[in-house]
Amino acid sequence: MAILKILQYPDERLHKVARKVERVDEATRRLARDMAETMYAAPGVGLAATQVDMHIQVIVVDVSETHNQLKIFINPEIIAFSGEEESEEGCLSVPGIYEKVRRAEKVTVRALDEKGEPFTLEAEGYLAVCIQHEIDHLRGKVFVEYLSQLKQIRLRAKLKKRLRETM
Ligand code: NI
Repeated sequence: MAILKILQYPDERLHKVARKVERVDEATRRLARDMAETMYAAPGVGLAATQVDMHIQVIVVDVSETHNQLKIFINPEIIAFSGEEESEEGCLSVPGIYEKVRRAEKVTVRALDEKGEPFTLEAEGYLAVCIQHEIDHLRGKVFVEYLSQLKQIRLRAKLKKRLRETM
């Protein structure tokens, strides 16, 4: 297993749209395992392949405190939404920034597991938020893009300044 490098916003590559996985094979499973290791090491609760500069539809999520409830979604698709809630989100590609985002409260997701078998999962609360956040990454969308234009401009300036200071 390996720890992968996580792209940092505003890196343009975070806006690439991920393509579907045609066949779930050993390379797909290796990527998912490396992504999980990277997520746990960060530490974080979710990671999309886009964030490690692999533009295929793979996400990993584990919102448990015990870090033993890893969920791997390949080609995830939200087939039903309900309710609405606003909660504070963060992202491993936007370290140190937490902002409120409004999303569906419950979602039904259809995806393939690491063996390539289809499954459906109903999620709510924090897990539902996390799944929506990660699926957004696959579409090239970072959570801060839900903020007002003014907030986004300020945020980009702040992050660029921080990046210069650490180089
Ligand atoms: Ni994220």
